[in-house]
Amino acid sequence: MQDAQKSWKIMVERSAEEATALASELIKTIICESAAEENKCYVALAGGTTPHALYQQLADTCASGDVPWGNVEVFFGDERDVPHDDVESNYNMATKTLLDNVPVQPTRIHPMSADSPDLAAAAEEYQQVICNLVPGKKKGISQFDLILLGMGADGHVASLFPGTEALKEREKLVTACFIPVLGRNRMTFTFPLINAARNVMLLVTGDDKADAIAALLGDDPAAKEQLPAVRIDPEGIVFLVLDAAAAKRTGLKSA
Ligand code: 6PG
Repeated sequence: MQDAQKSWKIMVERSAEEATALASELIKTIICESAAEENKCYVALAGGTTPHALYQQLADTCASGDVPWGNVEVFFGDERDVPHDDVESNYNMATKTLLDNVPVQPTRIHPMSADSPDLAAAAEEYQQVICNLVPGKKKGISQFDLILLGMGADGHVASLFPGTEALKEREKLVTACFIPVLGRNRMTFTFPLINAARNVMLLVTGDDKADAIAALLGDDPAAKEQLPAVRIDPEGIVFLVLDAAAAKRTGLKSA
């Protein structure tokens, strides 16, 4: 395992449901601790399908009232080039599963407009919103309390796909990018922003991610360097939450 991954908190649960439940508990703790320390908590949500059940579980916390959702400022780590009401939109998914069901203040929810005709300008505007609202720490870069990520079978995180220019971005915190393998535009956080976070959480489940997880945690530099996820290396904490299916080629045993 490369040095960066050696410091990661890697947890393996038997099933996707148990991994999701663990991720939900960890996120609740991070939100409660951040809000207690700073009276605010800055969170970036992931897209894709894995977080659906996670967001539904987090919404269920509302009944107990033990999560200070009113202190949470919600951003998105990436977005597809579709309107906010499109079924493909990460914002649309997170709204239906979580944000419509917890008392986050509407003015504290910041969707990306990745369907803008001028995507580069929209990315710059989104970066400016982050810089204006999320306090900076490391080198003055806005520091999220939590950036939640999924991971594709090719090791992409957010919309940082293998072989794309966005992987090399060192200055911008948010960028627009064309993804050849999808034939679509995306807007995404970049690694300078991801790696400034206090906590980064990767929730990865399913057989289809087993090869990428094995490469990510393995010792083969050639396999690792293909995976964008290997560039996650914040000063903060990385939580890698897996189910046994995603971990099945790592030798790691479930709890
Ligand atoms: C997106 C996500 C993306 C996702 C991975 C995993 O916009 O699709 O941000 O990075 O997390 O592709 O997706 P699944 O959870 O659907 O496997």
